[in-house]
Amino acid sequence: MQIKRIAVLGAGLMGHGIAQVAAQFAGYEVYLRDVEQRFLDRGIAMIKDSLERFRKKGVITEEQKSEILGKIHPTLDLELAVKQADLVIEAAPEEVELKKELFRKLDELAPPHTILASNTSSISITLLASQTKRPEKVCGMHFFNPPQLMKLVEIVKGQLTSDETVSVVQEVASKMGKETVIVKKDTPGFIVNRILIPALNEAIALLQEGVATKEDIDKAIRLGLNWPMGPLTLSDYVGNDTTLAVCDVLFKELGDPKYRPTYLLKLMVRAGLYGRKSGKGFYEWTSSGELKANS
Ligand code: 3HC
Repeated sequence: MQIKRIAVLGAGLMGHGIAQVAAQFAGYEVYLRDVEQRFLDRGIAMIKDSLERFRKKGVITEEQKSEILGKIHPTLDLELAVKQADLVIEAAPEEVELKKELFRKLDELAPPHTILASNTSSISITLLASQTKRPEKVCGMHFFNPPQLMKLVEIVKGQLTSDETVSVVQEVASKMGKETVIVKKDTPGFIVNRILIPALNEAIALLQEGVATKEDIDKAIRLGLNWPMGPLTLSDYVGNDTTLAVCDVLFKELGDPKYRPTYLLKLMVRAGLYGRKSGKGFYEWTSSGELKANS
């Protein structure tokens, strides 16, 4: 099966980047859909900012920048976005009921041959597939933040996902310049988040217990484990709301107390301290997504 057109649902931190790599590296026509104009505007602004970084580095020219932008079609209309798509990549907020509803609608609106992939960080692919009459064409396609730079895509098989769906999605990811791993069983957190999220949660527990300052916790992991960002910075970067959502799923689905979200993480999210996306988390962030000095 040949993929020509892609729809990306959600223009947020992940969706805008996925739409960009689909247009920039694989040359696909991409419909980028969100539910409010301001989310689309913000997504397109983030794409322009990222393309400008690539232009400044000499990776693309001014002309290529315009060509790539011309391939990305922002829209509020779900039907328009998916009615001619061969592949839909859902990157909506990490809320199970919202995603279930979206998959029910997608099954009605997208052509029968269309593959429905989810960029969910932790929600069961089998659960999303069960909302459709095409579970064999539903899979996980999990990108990492920032999708423009991170090399990996986890491809997740639901209970009924066909091998053909996996191989088509694997080829698409490869055209986007990504390396893939296949998660053979639909399991909470897949591979990366099963390991990463408990580590982020544990860093927050250390902060809660007053064992060290946030700066020293981050420094210890940056220099001691060679992570590019410390865990508290990284949780801010992906969104503390996302860290909590994944932690909740791991705890509920795996039933092991070691996955229980730290109370401080819950408080951060209740207070709207999501991190980079809201401007404040463990640290302060500029509106263009940079860490503020001395925050
Ligand atoms: N588009 C294009 N270029 C970008 C960019 C973007 N969105 N973001 C950063 N860059 C460029 C910068 O312009 C800079 O370019 P230069 O080398 O020419 O100056 C270069 O990348 C490096 O950026 P910075 O100097 O700002 O900062 P870093 O050196 O720290 O690199 C980073 C940034 C690549 C994000 C690096 O810090 C990193 O790898 N961090 C860890 C990210 C990570 O672990 N992601 C996975 C999170 S888990 C996840 O997503 C799963 C989810 O389900 C929770």
